[in-house]
Amino acid sequence: EKGGFSSFMDKEIHDQPAAVRDTLLGRLDERGRLSLDELHIDEAVLRSVDKIVVIACGTAAYAGQVARYAIEHWCRIPTEVELAHEFRYRDPIVNEKTLVVALSQSGETMDTLMAIRHAREQGAKVVAICNTNGSSIPRESDASLYTHAGPEIAVASTKAFLAQITAAYLLGLYLAQLRGNMYADEIVDVVDELQKMPEKIQEVIDAEEQVKKLGTDMVDSSSVLFLGRHVGFPVALEGALKLKEIAYIHAEGFAAGELKHGPIALIEEGQPVFVVVPSPRGRDSLHSKVVSNIQEIRARGAITIVIAEEGDESVSDYANHVITVPQAPTLLQPLLATVPLQVFACALAGAKGYDVDQPRNLAKSVTVE
Ligand code: F6R
Repeated sequence: EKGGFSSFMDKEIHDQPAAVRDTLLGRLDERGRLSLDELHIDEAVLRSVDKIVVIACGTAAYAGQVARYAIEHWCRIPTEVELAHEFRYRDPIVNEKTLVVALSQSGETMDTLMAIRHAREQGAKVVAICNTNGSSIPRESDASLYTHAGPEIAVASTKAFLAQITAAYLLGLYLAQLRGNMYADEIVDVVDELQKMPEKIQEVIDAEEQVKKLGTDMVDSSSVLFLGRHVGFPVALEGALKLKEIAYIHAEGFAAGELKHGPIALIEEGQPVFVVVPSPRGRDSLHSKVVSNIQEIRARGAITIVIAEEGDESVSDYANHVITVPQAPTLLQPLLATVPLQVFACALAGAKGYDVDQPRNLAKSVTVE
């Protein structure tokens, strides 16, 4: 039941600290080592993996894109992310040394299921990251790592997305542990940070009124753009998808670095643009590059809504609105930065009077190709 919330989507946004906490639960021992007993794939096989292919659709594919940055960084295994419906039809190079990771909330997405079948026929091992016990995708995979987000009722995915990122990160850390790509201490550090995330997500939710107000104030927008870089890029894509799905507004996400290669031509007076700003404490020039992107679009009249880390003063001169999120390592920032985008879409669609849980033309699980 909705538990006092205006919609299931609203409730599920609020379920996210628990979704992440429950997905971590029981998978770490006291020393911060990963123990994924459910991963019934021979360790020798996992050690021999030379490529990871993540397959999924929609929001789950964006979770896969986020995970790719982490998995490649931690495990040094080349990782691709592909939409399941594209994967299958292009004669992909997949063999016994390929680990396919299929992400699906429902476990019934036909495109993803068909891609799994195709990969297994080529000899690949498939790990399903799924939210629905006993559904088709885990049943047809070699192993399953369940997300524990609880049932997701709203058509637009929210808590499953955060749980998928969490589970994919656990898988990445587990592989790094198994294959010796990271020192035990480094893994413990990441695990410690992961365990702090539910509380930080709660902080973002506690500050939701500001974002809800933005959503209602912007009810008449006809187009909204989203920019991000590195892990902020798939977050931008997810923010745009949420708005398309439930508010029926034209929305697009771009890699911030791509702006000058085309999309900046779209910027005109009054164009709202969300920008996900990387941590100023993270990677070298990532932060300053995004800050200059904000300057560039602001100079062309964009209304900039900036999602930045607490304490990041560098953005305030160029932002019309600043939404702050707690400090976190760059790779974990999507677990925070996505939340205001969900809240925004939900509030804006609500202000338009739409049924946010049952958007037109969409079904919760897409069981046809
Ligand atoms: C977006 C959304 C869809 C699903 C996609 C995959 O809010 O819900 O894009 O993410 O249809 O569904 P699952 O994860 O069930 O395979």
